[in-house]
Amino acid sequence: MVKRKYPHTRLRRTRAKAFLRDLVAEKKLSTDDLIQPIFIADQKDSKVSIPSMPGIYRHNLESLYSEVESLINLGIKSIAIFPAIDPEKKDAKASHAFEKDNIVCKALNQLSEKFPELIKIADVALDPYTDHGHDGLIIDGKINNDETVTLLAEQALILANAGADIIAPSDMMDGRVRVIRDALESNALQDTIILSYAAKYASSFYGPFRDAVGSSVSLGTGSKETYQMNFANIDEAIHEVRMDLEEGADIVMVKPGIAYLDVVHKIRNIFQVPTFVYQVSGEYSMLQLSIEKGWLDKNVMLESLMCCKRAGADAILTYAAKQISSELNA
Ligand code: PBG
Repeated sequence: MVKRKYPHTRLRRTRAKAFLRDLVAEKKLSTDDLIQPIFIADQKDSKVSIPSMPGIYRHNLESLYSEVESLINLGIKSIAIFPAIDPEKKDAKASHAFEKDNIVCKALNQLSEKFPELIKIADVALDPYTDHGHDGLIIDGKINNDETVTLLAEQALILANAGADIIAPSDMMDGRVRVIRDALESNALQDTIILSYAAKYASSFYGPFRDAVGSSVSLGTGSKETYQMNFANIDEAIHEVRMDLEEGADIVMVKPGIAYLDVVHKIRNIFQVPTFVYQVSGEYSMLQLSIEKGWLDKNVMLESLMCCKRAGADAILTYAAKQISSELNA
């Protein structure tokens, strides 16, 4: 290591012009890194706004088509689909998740036909379909791990058969990656990718998402703490990732994002596998609302995403994907 000393060394030299700053930039952010989460619903109106998520809508299938077309034109290569299910279709067992013509399956079918190159990610979890809003089955007053995992494997097969390229278990049950991987292998779906929400924390940053999909009905704050991780922990995140990789995950994810970048950094360095981060609804809404109010400059969104890259994320799920892509292309 050369010893560098002022005045021979002046770090401001390479900051003097925009082009210089670009030349020495350590990280780049491009549309290749951005995944757009999209909410869909069986609804008459094509787009319905979500009050706690400025600029984000729930789309019906026609509107989904045009939305995806514009995303592809902006250079976005991947989307993650989340359904808002009619309350009448929800029950304690999430039965509607297993109907092969539910809205997610229809969307996956339609998108596979129209946009064969698009990478479609589908969440594996029961919460959009349960009347209590939990990700698992409740038996004797508790979220039952093993019964839930059996159902998740079934859900994963349905989603993969409907055309999901990547299935993303977001439920945090123990052992679900293994059971899902076995089910895929024995059903000729060995090429389906598992993106595991490996380190998913019990976070209050998910509030606006639960408004968007209507899954907060009977959930109090912190009530997912028996399955999602304690936000005090990082060693446990390493343990979670190791288990999910051993069980057959291809890509791991940390969630939430900007407040959890120490976790992203550590995981990327230890495992050297594709590591994604989810800038979740609450993080998006905090920034977007402040931008709309004029309290923060709009560049704060790009900054937050670049920080995810700097921490080591390979790709970022962000509600700002569309908006940032137009800026990156400008
Ligand atoms: C459901 C799921 C959640 C999110 C993604 N998948 C909510 C939850 O766990 O309650 C949150 C995403 C966001 O806040 O943007 N399993």
